[in-house]
Amino acid sequence: DDSVVRRDRFSGGPARSFLSSLSADERIFEADLEVDRAHAVMLAEQGIIEADVAGQILTALDAIEVDGHGSLPDGEDVHEAIETAVIERIGADGGKMHTARSRNDEVAACIRYRLRADVLDAIETTLALRESLVDVAEAHDETLMPGYTHLQPAQPTTVAHWALAYEGAVRRDTERLFDAYGRVNQSPLGAAAFAGTTFDVDRERTAELLGFDGGPASSARGSSAEQRSAVVVENSMDASSSRDFLLETTQALSTHATTLSGLAEDVIIFANRGFVDLADDYSSTSSIMPQKKNPDTLELVRAVAGDAAGGVQGLTTTLKGLPRAYNRDLQRATTHAWETVDAVTEASEVAAGAVATADWNEDDLAAEAGEGFSTATGVADLLAANGLPFRTAHELVAIAADNGADYDALEAAAEEVLGEPLEAYVDPAAVDDALDPAESVASRDSQGGPAPEAVADQLAAADEALAA
Ligand code: ARG
Repeated sequence: DDSVVRRDRFSGGPARSFLSSLSADERIFEADLEVDRAHAVMLAEQGIIEADVAGQILTALDAIEVDGHGSLPDGEDVHEAIETAVIERIGADGGKMHTARSRNDEVAACIRYRLRADVLDAIETTLALRESLVDVAEAHDETLMPGYTHLQPAQPTTVAHWALAYEGAVRRDTERLFDAYGRVNQSPLGAAAFAGTTFDVDRERTAELLGFDGGPASSARGSSAEQRSAVVVENSMDASSSRDFLLETTQALSTHATTLSGLAEDVIIFANRGFVDLADDYSSTSSIMPQKKNPDTLELVRAVAGDAAGGVQGLTTTLKGLPRAYNRDLQRATTHAWETVDAVTEASEVAAGAVATADWNEDDLAAEAGEGFSTATGVADLLAANGLPFRTAHELVAIAADNGADYDALEAAAEEVLGEPLEAYVDPAAVDDALDPAESVASRDSQGGPAPEAVADQLAAADEALAA
């Protein structure tokens, strides 16, 4: 029989494997079955195909699901292969499944359907990490530690204050992922190739069957602003060919990976200084140096920011300048998003575990908290609070810092700068307090500061956001 189906004429040559996304499409195998089911049900409900044909199609799809992606017949992609498998099972009527659609709206729906689940997994890991950080903060609201700027000792702070700094950043990462999720969670189905269809399709119905509701609702975001996108991507050219939902999701993941890389770097440095011990589960040893315990997991977490930035770059470059409507370039765009979501979700999960199981060495931390004259700012603040212009106080304390960085040095600097004893300006006991790291922390009780009562407010807000 030389009357072959038209698509068998094409792409059977040497470029076959280059063209095919079938193996990469394993990721959307389940999604495609769901999209096929929803579409077949809608077609039957609308009277576009017969109910019994739809029933046979659904039965075939169930059997195909049981057999799995690996048993699919050859095809240019999973959509074609599943259609072929349906036809193999129920005959030519299986071809009715593709009425009023194209692989263009189909693949966009599959990607969105699968990515939705993946983004939720990523969001879960951000929540777990936030929980770990909150637990650390709860346990260490009075554990002093050196705070750094330019990686030089700057001012004493607490482990809780440090942990909540990262909790705040990860909280925004969660919100960005939810924002992206809302626009992933819209249905492109019914757009067909790009120009809509002559059939009386019900796009809202397939959206509903597939759970594309434009959500999340406001409570999920922990924000008061109601945010819900439309249920369908309205314009059919837009629906079938836009991939900005991939881009913003990948960007949100990359932002989170960047947060993670900073967190990892801090803990690596703290481990280097003996401030923190990672659990063995999150450490590696050396094949030659028997004494080694290395923070390899966190180094890999740090590196994932590179993978994620690469994913954003690859995706952006692939999408840049693509004309409307569908172009096959889009097949290679998706891969960047999958790779990024996998890498970042895993890194986030590992970071949460490493933080949750690490041991903070309170004594070493306390001993280092005041190193490098890191209470100097507090002394300058004290002088300023007693009437000295802050700039003069800054100069006085800087001179003391260069000449011993202690009470005697402050007295000498006062004589030099003010021509008067230090006692003329401040109560010596208050200076002693300012020089003490614990007092120094306790005195910085401004909103968001490291003083335990200011940290308690931050902890309550962190808990509330997590609960939401
Ligand atoms: N496999 C393709 C993709 O991932 C979907 C098929 C659309 N193909 C086409 N020639 N219009 O984008």
